[in-house]
Amino acid sequence: MKFYFLFILVFSAYVSAEPKQAAIATAHPLATQAGIDILQQGGNAFDAAAAITASLAVVEPYSSGIGGGGFWLIHRASDHKQVMIDGRERAPMRSTHDMYLDKAGNTIKGLSLNGPLAAGIPGVPAGIEHLVKHYGRLSLKEVLAPAIKQAQAGFAVTARYRKLMAYRIEVIKQYPDTARVFLDEYKIPALGSLIVQADLAQTLTTMAKHGSQGFYQGAVAEAMVASVKANGGIWELDDLDKYQVVERAPIIIDYNGITITSVAPPSSGGIVMGQALHILGQFDLAQYDPVTRKHIIIEAMRRAYRDRAAYLGDPDFVKVPVERLLDEEYTEGLALSIDLDRATPSHDLSDITTTDQTGTDTTHFSVVDTDGNRVAATLSINLPFGSGFIAQGTGVLLNNEMDDFSVKPLTANAYGLVGDHANAIAPGKRPLSSMTPTFLETDDRIGILGTPGGSRIISMVLLGVLDFAKGNPPQSWVSLPRYHHQYLPDEVQYEQGGLSSSEQAVLKSKGHVLKEKNRQYGNMQAIMIWKKRGLIFAASDPRGEGRANVFYLP
Ligand code: DON
Repeated sequence: MKFYFLFILVFSAYVSAEPKQAAIATAHPLATQAGIDILQQGGNAFDAAAAITASLAVVEPYSSGIGGGGFWLIHRASDHKQVMIDGRERAPMRSTHDMYLDKAGNTIKGLSLNGPLAAGIPGVPAGIEHLVKHYGRLSLKEVLAPAIKQAQAGFAVTARYRKLMAYRIEVIKQYPDTARVFLDEYKIPALGSLIVQADLAQTLTTMAKHGSQGFYQGAVAEAMVASVKANGGIWELDDLDKYQVVERAPIIIDYNGITITSVAPPSSGGIVMGQALHILGQFDLAQYDPVTRKHIIIEAMRRAYRDRAAYLGDPDFVKVPVERLLDEEYTEGLALSIDLDRATPSHDLSDITTTDQTGTDTTHFSVVDTDGNRVAATLSINLPFGSGFIAQGTGVLLNNEMDDFSVKPLTANAYGLVGDHANAIAPGKRPLSSMTPTFLETDDRIGILGTPGGSRIISMVLLGVLDFAKGNPPQSWVSLPRYHHQYLPDEVQYEQGGLSSSEQAVLKSKGHVLKEKNRQYGNMQAIMIWKKRGLIFAASDPRGEGRANVFYLP
């Protein structure tokens, strides 16, 4: 708390950029504080990102964790190096194409979602170490210190914690080691009660001493594998030992003079958003009335998500036709197929069937330091509290990211997304993600943004980019009413208040099926640097409990 006096403004911030200014936006005040502490100690944005990642693993256990994965998009100011650190989970070597199907070939309900069989091999510990070792200034011990303290001291249960726990409590009750940490006598803990994670603190301490080897090898690895196997999972020590992050070149897109740097496969985010923006680039959106503009954006989303289903998967396993999907002529053709008066039925594009999607969680944070180094990171354990399974004696809550594979061709996952061969399960493969940490740059502005939200991540970031294009600040991007189309199911999803009643009437008259989600969605954390005016703005989504700060460093 002692650095609070440094905050210029809480939630949305605005200060002069002279001479040493930094900004952090995360989904939890304690994680923002961990990042500030590390910058205060002389760390750079990459050290802060590592500390924030570890802190979120402790204080936002429903969203991400060292038992999960993610993507860190980074920009190094000294040489303008931009790279995506791919810490996505990998399928265990004993996984098979049909591992979640019964003998008749039907998916077994819950198998890819609940318990250790749903868990991919985590990438976050390796990602944290990679950030610090290759880009940071501090030691792993220093950057892990805030998270270790938070795990020992405990964090207070919030309304969001309670809401997300309500969604997963039945699964968590089945695993006593998880219930002991995250429930109170098998009930949702009261607001403000403390969640202490002694085992997790111990595992993080082991990592601080031995590096990521402390996680992927030795006692922690052995305990995780034993516990996973005893509960029906298929991890082997070798899976952990062989896990490596991969540095990949980001996807770069130009949209109306904005250079957009976003994630490449195994996330679909950069390509789907890029394709949608290339389609939208064929229209002068400003000339249309607001609802026609929305219709065009929805139709662009529909087309881009269709190609996601057909072509995208782990590039180490399948050939992803990146150039073709972003090709000018190809996207021009897609733009021409949009009828301004009518919705195009998704089945006219192809004939795939699917079901509805469910509630979700994940996390995003954005950081810029005084040197202009920046990080946009989206991290996940997939559904709230991941697989619901803590590996005994380690405090590590495992993800259920295996559900992001297409467990059966053209069958919907938890987000209603369908896929095909490109995203089929294979040993060692990374499941296709929608996470979309993104940088935006024009002559005078830089944007850093991203959000959780499953399949809707990409459309949320897309709407944020279009708002940036209009010249609006991050406070506006994070607050925008949200709507979405993902090809299948063939419906426009919108959050409460996402479409006005007159917009709904017009879209229906064009043939769109509308579906209001029963709540608002997303938790965007964003920063904007106004280069010429020397101003930094930062904003945290009003739907969440996060904190964005712009502050001076001594
Ligand atoms: O990687 C993905 O696309 C998903 N596992 C992300 C899940 C997510 O965002 C859930 N959040 N609300």
